[in-house]
Amino acid sequence: MKEQLNAIKLNAEQELNHISSIQALENVRVKYLGKKGELTSVLRGMGSLSPEERPVIGQLANQIRSYLEEKIENAKEVLLKKEKQEKLQREVIDVTMPGKRRYLGKKHPLSIVLDEIKEIFIGMGFEIAEGPEVELDYYNFEALNIPKNHPARDAQDTFYVNENIVLRTQTSPVQIRVMEKQKPPIRVISPGRVYRSDAVDATHSPVFHQVEGLVVDKNVTMGDLKGTLEAFAKRLYGEEAKVRFRPHHFPFTEPSAEVDVSCFVCGGSGCRVCKGEGWIEILGAGMVHPKVLKNCSIDPEEYSGFAFGMGLERIVMRRFNIDDLRLFFENDMRFLGQF
Ligand code: DAH
Repeated sequence: MKEQLNAIKLNAEQELNHISSIQALENVRVKYLGKKGELTSVLRGMGSLSPEERPVIGQLANQIRSYLEEKIENAKEVLLKKEKQEKLQREVIDVTMPGKRRYLGKKHPLSIVLDEIKEIFIGMGFEIAEGPEVELDYYNFEALNIPKNHPARDAQDTFYVNENIVLRTQTSPVQIRVMEKQKPPIRVISPGRVYRSDAVDATHSPVFHQVEGLVVDKNVTMGDLKGTLEAFAKRLYGEEAKVRFRPHHFPFTEPSAEVDVSCFVCGGSGCRVCKGEGWIEILGAGMVHPKVLKNCSIDPEEYSGFAFGMGLERIVMRRFNIDDLRLFFENDMRFLGQF
């Protein structure tokens, strides 16, 4: 039995010398010292020993047990230290390495110009109004004096959600929503996305942006409209900018006009940007139709108003000399980084 014990000690020692992980160490401990371990099973056999031998063997077994326990404890400490050392080595940070340069975000060109437009109108006492992009047919068409089967509907290829709901084709429905909620005096602009079922090309996109304007008060005249738009054009394009009104037709204004601004590149003599015209169309406008006022329970005998609507993309394209509208929506950093 003595030999058995010594053999256990020797074997355990040998295994412990080659241990390389905490798990392997635990396996060795269980193998020799565990409840079903080799040392334990030898001790179980002590019953068959003579009373003289028993204490001798018992002492030896206990000696070996504490000897192995200590060895295992030591090995564990060494292993833990080594593991920690390796971990520190792995996670070492070289604080002298150069940092990674991050992209600085930039304003989208549409936002740059829209912010300018907002600033100009806020400076003239306008407020910003918003409306939903998924809109009732009533607001997008009906209340704006565009009944079902009106030819103006065909000109705006509409995305219908169902018979009564559309993706708004213009920001004009916000006029109605504002007038329903607010008593005059009203001075709002309403920028936002609009949708039309157009095929994508360099000048068309099924989603684009408009900025709507609406003023309603007592004694508002066409002169106020001209003055407002002229002040706007001079702030946006420079003091030399002139505006010109051409007669036009919109169902929701009477009279209606298309408004041109003198070419900001050639000043009116004709160039590539204005296609030799000297003038560039920037928006549609007019005096709010009495029917539209009535639809919003505003008395056209007491109040009058003007409205206008401009396409943002075209204004921004001319400003930055961008010849393809798709660039606005592709989010190519090489494009966006230029502004
Ligand atoms: N909603 C028109 C369009 O999308 C633009 C417009 C024209 C808006 C005249 C107006 C306006 O408010 O008075 O073509």
